[in-house]
Formats: sequence, structure tokens, C-alpha cells
Amino acid sequence: DSKSKESRGALIVLEGLDRCGKTSQSSRLFSSLEGFGYSVDLWRFPDRNTGVGQMISSYLLNQTQLDDRTIHLLFSANRWEKRSMMESKLRSGTTLIVDRYSYSGVAFSAAKGLDIEWCKAPEKGLLAPDLVLYLDIQPEEAAERGGYGGERYEQLEFQKKVSQQYLMMRDHSWKIIDASLPMEDVEKQLSALVLDSVDLCRKGKPLSQLWP
Ligand code: TMP
Repeated sequence: DSKSKESRGALIVLEGLDRCGKTSQSSRLFSSLEGFGYSVDLWRFPDRNTGVGQMISSYLLNQTQLDDRTIHLLFSANRWEKRSMMESKLRSGTTLIVDRYSYSGVAFSAAKGLDIEWCKAPEKGLLAPDLVLYLDIQPEEAAERGGYGGERYEQLEFQKKVSQQYLMMRDHSWKIIDASLPMEDVEKQLSALVLDSVDLCRKGKPLSQLWP
């Protein structure tokens, strides 16, 4: 009917430190929504498949060196190059589960000492998430989980700084989930929050832009 044609999908973002369980939880959410019959896509940033994404990937693998502000802007550009696709997906009724977004962009760069307002500026005008699920974990515990993979930011002292930066960005769209709980418990909490958000968007909640 005409009402369902107009209803949009929800923009759901998962955030947290490296090894907090975001990626597993994102795919679990994706599968369960799909199982319920929703139209849903699973995205992640950085999207390493684009030209910009390949530059980011080689930086993260320590194969290239880049100035801190340069890599910051590349991460942001990587979101901008997906923005129109993101908007058309959402407007056509598809919910997006997105593993990392602008909050990672700001938290990781600010943890290097860059000014937070400078870091936020290029994100302005990207779509604002309807829900940010922050998987909260102690940096020490994350570090113990199967070890880091050896990418550039996977170091305990740095992750501690990132976690402080993240928590300064909390706003009304954030839900903080204790990611030290068993995976199934985390999944249940996330699912309930996501279903609520999807419902609100179907009922006509407008899309908005960063930063509120
Ligand atoms: P990934 O492990 O989720 O693929 O993310 C790669 C790393 O990039 C991770 O350490 C977080 C970092 N990152 C940023 O520094 N800025 C960003 O905008 C994003 C999306 C990720």
C-alpha cells in the first residue's frame, strides 16, 4: 500500500573499540532482521573496496604512511562517496546495519591529538544514524580477546584514548551496551533496540544529518 512505499529503513550504527564484538554482532543483527522478512543491508566503514578505501587499507596495514589529517579526510571521503547510495537505500525502505561510522572517524583521530571540532567538520551533512549502538568494553578486556590483528591502531594505550574520545560523543541517539556480557545477551539487547528503531522509522521518523 502507499504507506509502506513511503516508509523508510533505519540507519543503525555499531561502534566500539577494536575487538569489542561489533562485527559479529552486526552480522547477527543482519541475519535476524533478514529472517524476520525485513529489507536489510550490512555495511561497514572503512569500505575497503573503493579507490579511497584501498588507500585507507594500505595505511591501516602499515604499508603506507600518511599525515594524520590526510588519513582523517580519507576516512571521511570514504563515507561521502557512499552517502547518496545510503540515502536511496534508506528511502526505498532498506534498513542499514553499519559497522563503524563518523564516531569512529572522530574518536580515532581525536585520540591522536587532533582537535575534535576539526575532526567533526567534514562529517557535517552525512546522514545521522537513527540509533548508535556502542559496545562498551574495557580496553584491557578487548586486548585479551584473541589478540589484536596487528593493524595500525590495535594497541592498548591508543585504544584507551579512543574509548575516552568515544564517550565524549554520546548523544540522544546512543545506547551503551555492556559488551563484556555473553554474546547471546548482547545480541538480545541489540535486537530489541533495533526493532524499536526500525519501527519508528517505518512510522515516519524523518531522516536527519550530522551533527545534531
Ligand atoms: P575495522 O577494523 O573495523 O575495519 O576498522 C579499521 C580501523 O580504522 C579501526 O582501527 C578503526 C579505524 N577507523 C578510523 O580511524 N576512522 C574511521 O573513520 C573508521 C571508519 C575507522
